[in-house]
Amino acid sequence: MSSLSLHAAGPLRLGVNIDHVATIRNARGGTHPDPVRAARIAHEAGADGITAHLREDRRHISDDDIRRLKETLEPPLNLEMAATDEMLDIALRNIPNACCLVPERREEVTTEGGLDVVGSHNTLKPYIRQIKDGSIRVSLFIDVNETQIQASAELGADIVELHTGPYCHAVNDGNTARIETELTRLAEASTLAHGLGLEVHAGHGLTFESVAAVAALPEMVELNIGHYLVGEAIFGGLHSTVQRMRSLMDRAREDASGIKTA
Ligand code: PXP
Repeated sequence: MSSLSLHAAGPLRLGVNIDHVATIRNARGGTHPDPVRAARIAHEAGADGITAHLREDRRHISDDDIRRLKETLEPPLNLEMAATDEMLDIALRNIPNACCLVPERREEVTTEGGLDVVGSHNTLKPYIRQIKDGSIRVSLFIDVNETQIQASAELGADIVELHTGPYCHAVNDGNTARIETELTRLAEASTLAHGLGLEVHAGHGLTFESVAAVAALPEMVELNIGHYLVGEAIFGGLHSTVQRMRSLMDRAREDASGIKTA
């Protein structure tokens, strides 16, 4: 357990998850858009770290992305992965700053729930030990649940990442009562985890609308955000990107014909 990593009410780190840049790249099977380039831009824009989930089916991030993220990027890499021998080998080969262990089911659209640390205690234990022996911090992605937090501390995790999905669903639904309930649960879970010496992270489904209340929790050290940022980047960047294409086309016509188009 790392006591150096506890920053109650200190600066809040932003981890940008670049998985869905790779989703768009893979839709065409080429190299554009490159998630490593996106990671560099995210870092320049204020991200403290980069998160990438290497799924067993490689639906977005690839093994080579992980290698390039680790070799060419300055910010710390948080490698999300299932607790399997294959993923352990990849982690020990690349030595990210942290491994965030997540449950994984091939047919799921995204990580749907947290790890069952209580039920998988014996399965997780050797993976956690080997990751820590490789000088990599261990994060466990869990539901907001007291027994899961206690089991994470007992297993020697450095970090728990609290699943903000239920809270974000409540925000998206505009359900004030559920928002209050989920926020209270997140606040109590953060206090408990922090008290047990765990660094507290959170993520899943966070948006401009839902982020502030989670960011305000004093024990929170890092938020990991992906899908919404990649989606919003379309709206933030589409205007200037289309303008640039328009201008390249117009200039080419002007050069070819000598007639100005605009
Ligand atoms: N944290 C974990 C453990 C995740 O699995 C994900 C999704 O890959 C995130 C954070 C980021 O969630 P989102 O993409 O919804 O922001």
